[in-house]
Amino acid sequence: MRILVLNGPNLNRLGKRQPEVYGTTTLADVTADLEGLAAELGVSVEVRQTNHEGEMLDWVHAAADDGDPVVLNPAAWTHTSVALRDACAELRAGLVEVHLSNVHARESFRAHSYITPVATGVIAGLGVEGYRLALRFLAGRSVPGAA
Ligand code: DQA
Repeated sequence: MRILVLNGPNLNRLGKRQPEVYGTTTLADVTADLEGLAAELGVSVEVRQTNHEGEMLDWVHAAADDGDPVVLNPAAWTHTSVALRDACAELRAGLVEVHLSNVHARESFRAHSYITPVATGVIAGLGVEGYRLALRFLAGRSVPGAA
């Protein structure tokens, strides 16, 4: 068992992309930070990003088959992708949807998520801390005796 942290389109641009909205932390920084936290928590984590929807679907299918919990920032696919929602509906080991920004305080099209109805829970607006909280939550569910 490992916890997957899957990131959708444009999140490879983190740190450079609209820093006033998404902050200056890069995805490499997030990855290093989550790997450190996972080691502390005694779980294994794998952080990935793709700009290709089919690749993301393949990752979610594999997570469903392997019983891996998933932290997902679906990025723009949050608001567009029935295909990603259908794939996520198969996950049984926990799915936390994470958004760096508070999607409810932005353009109205960002308020609707195709993913939320099939997620265990959602964290939005807490910046990169959202990933840490999601990892802690899923690690706590998956490691017997962990807090
Ligand atoms: C995002 C919010 C989405 O609306 C946007 O398309 C993103 C990032 C976030 O992390 O705040 O790419 O998921």
